[in-house]
Amino acid sequence: MDTLNDKNTAPIGLFDSGVGGSTIWKEIVSLMPYENTLFLADNKNAPYGEKSREAIIALCDANTQFLLDSGAKIIVVACNTGTTNAITYLRDKYKQIPFIGIEPAIKPAGLQSITKKIGVLATRRTLTSSLFAQTSEHLKQEEQVQIIEQVGEGLVDLIEAGAIESPEMEVLLRKYLLPMVAQGIDYLVLGCTHYPYLLPQIQQIIPSHIKVIDSGYAVAKQTRNILAKYHLLNEKTTTPSHLWITNGNLPILEMFAPKNMPNLQIKKM
Ligand code: DGL
Repeated sequence: MDTLNDKNTAPIGLFDSGVGGSTIWKEIVSLMPYENTLFLADNKNAPYGEKSREAIIALCDANTQFLLDSGAKIIVVACNTGTTNAITYLRDKYKQIPFIGIEPAIKPAGLQSITKKIGVLATRRTLTSSLFAQTSEHLKQEEQVQIIEQVGEGLVDLIEAGAIESPEMEVLLRKYLLPMVAQGIDYLVLGCTHYPYLLPQIQQIIPSHIKVIDSGYAVAKQTRNILAKYHLLNEKTTTPSHLWITNGNLPILEMFAPKNMPNLQIKKM
């Protein structure tokens, strides 16, 4: 007999402008191995980072609607740009469903920094959002942390093109990272869910004493906490099903998907 109602077995819904959200999906699946998931990659509209706030809100709204129509029990906005520009709007519009967002981890970085200088690499729309301004102002005022902001223009385009190990990527990363290194940062915050895929390249450019952090694990933990709070955790210990769905670039999703995972299906809308 099914002792849990549909809400518990319903999938965790996640979306991003593209393949970046899969870095959050991986954290969620590793923390909650029995949850069903549905990840929507809006590759057709990537990147979000250079679009207007209004355009980002409209895209996030459409993504949310898709996940809700597909039966998601919670929505994880697995996109810093989407969160910092649209989460207030989404929470206000869809009051019946919990939302989890992701923001650059400048707070933990700032609190742990010894040099009191941290670097943050994120999209233009994340760095110019009022949500980011609030958090960074607090750190600057209360903790005297210097935050060196860098727009990662072009990085998401290259990742979405599968060009992670390209010479163009190396040129851009050097251009963005070396000035931060020269200014004495001891923490580098990856403020875009695509960027964890660049970690090997980043670590070849920056000195090893600089710690690189992102918010992926914190988002997974917060998702679990909120599911527990609303009694929505899936306690069935059967093999879950996972679906990644794209409206654009299927090969790129396949390229970043874990291999040998028969319960993961990847398809085009
Ligand atoms: N992965 C996204 C983020 O975390 C979006 C990047 C983009 O589409 O520009 O911001």
